[in-house]
Amino acid sequence: MKVGVIGTGYVGLVSGTCFADSGNDVICVDIDESKVERMRKGEVPIYEPGLNRVFDRAIREKRLSFTTDIEKAFKESEVIFLCLPTPPGADGQADLSFVLNVADQLGDLFNKFPGYRVIVNKSTVPVGTADRVHEKIAAKTDHEFDVVSNPEFLREGAAVEDFMKPERVVVGTSSDKAAKLMTALYEPFVRSGNPIIIMDERSSELTKYAANAMLATKITFMNEIANICEKVGANVDNVRRGIGTDSRIGKRFLFAGIGYGGSCFPKDVQAIHHTAGEYGYDFRILDSVMKVNETQKVSIVEKMKEFYKGDLKGKTVGVWGLAFKPETDDVREAPALYITDELAKLGVKMRAYDPEAVDTFKAAASEIAKENIEFVSDRDSVIDGVDALVICTEWNEFRRPDMERFSKVMKAPVIFDGRNLYDLERAKEAGLTYISVGRPSVNV
Ligand SMILES: NC(=O)c1ccc[n+]([C@@H]2O[C@H](COP(=O)([O-])OP(=O)(O)OC[C@H]3O[C@@H](n4cnc5c(N)ncnc54)[C@H](O)[C@@H]3O)[C@@H](O)[C@H]2O)c1
Repeated sequence: MKVGVIGTGYVGLVSGTCFADSGNDVICVDIDESKVERMRKGEVPIYEPGLNRVFDRAIREKRLSFTTDIEKAFKESEVIFLCLPTPPGADGQADLSFVLNVADQLGDLFNKFPGYRVIVNKSTVPVGTADRVHEKIAAKTDHEFDVVSNPEFLREGAAVEDFMKPERVVVGTSSDKAAKLMTALYEPFVRSGNPIIIMDERSSELTKYAANAMLATKITFMNEIANICEKVGANVDNVRRGIGTDSRIGKRFLFAGIGYGGSCFPKDVQAIHHTAGEYGYDFRILDSVMKVNETQKVSIVEKMKEFYKGDLKGKTVGVWGLAFKPETDDVREAPALYITDELAKLGVKMRAYDPEAVDTFKAAASEIAKENIEFVSDRDSVIDGVDALVICTEWNEFRRPDMERFSKVMKAPVIFDGRNLYDLERAKEAGLTYISVGRPSVNV
């Protein structure tokens, strides 16, 4: 099949590459000229495990190409995926300008290059967007087309694997013709029997928000349980094991920490909350989720203030992890952005390391944070001579450090762990002062 992908971010580039890998001819369009230039030279512009290998193969076999020219991609494609940003706009509403501007261009292109095409919204968009995109195009052309909703559920850090083996594919369309075409396109990815669920456009659009809102709620619920654990002297690890074995609850997404971040959960929770409000419905549970997450993100700073009795000025603190989660260079809404900003304002000097996200972090961090952070290129030199270490991201390489080294090289072996990486007994044996989330503090 001839596939066009508009927008080559985490979703567009992974989707385009995987569609090319399954034998389709894919043209990817982006307005970012330097990004297109890099991809043309064979460079993958984001860090995503496993993407390089599939990308290289698709390029070698000439099934994947890149352009800044939307006309070229439109002319050659039967299915066109919109993988455009939908950032939070005013009041948390999803900003649809990227999607609607491209829809406007597509209307003109149908007149120039007639022929049935399916336009697919893969961006996360509010209910009713498929209709709005349809109207935009139909205002310009009488040619036959369908607009389909096909939300993406991939996780950054496991995006290729998720795309190649999705637990489900959701397709929202009322057109049999479009449903057949979408089914043919996705069949290679669901050979093990996972479903392609066809539904109406609005339900499909809402499914994506419902999924992310549910997951953000699950994380937040566990964070609140962790906060209660700290008050009553319980251990959230035990509570997690105790409830996770209940199959109605499930084991996954029950790890307490310093809040959810990333490019999706924060904005999608806001957006569905906003949509509910527009329809006169007060989505109260999500109000709480957003409020709790705001405080959870900087809860570690509160613990530091308490430990140092409010006197953090002049301290030097190491930071392990800047990305919003491991295996990605994405720092959008990463807790580390907020924590480093707060610490810098309190007069703390920092030394930070992340295996992949230093450049993206530098582009997103506040000026005051950057002025007070020395970025280093390895895990171990972060901790030399520091007063404390803060762990913001659970990269694998932070899980098994030489525990004895903390006491040897740090000014004081004090660790504030926002990701609960270490066993409490082990921390005690190593002589650490170890403060984590929802678990008893060690040697305090
Ligand atoms: N990142 C994720 O994990 C994820 C997962 C599921 C769904 N989504 C959704 O998918 C959508 C895209 O997310 P993303 O993380 O890939 O975004 P991104 O910001 O990484 O990428 C968007 C790309 O679109 C390009 N672009 C902007 N305007 C354009 C235009 N007019 N023509 C061509 N290209 C244009 C940008 O240059 C950028 O490369 C969003 O709606 C997001 O909510 C994201």
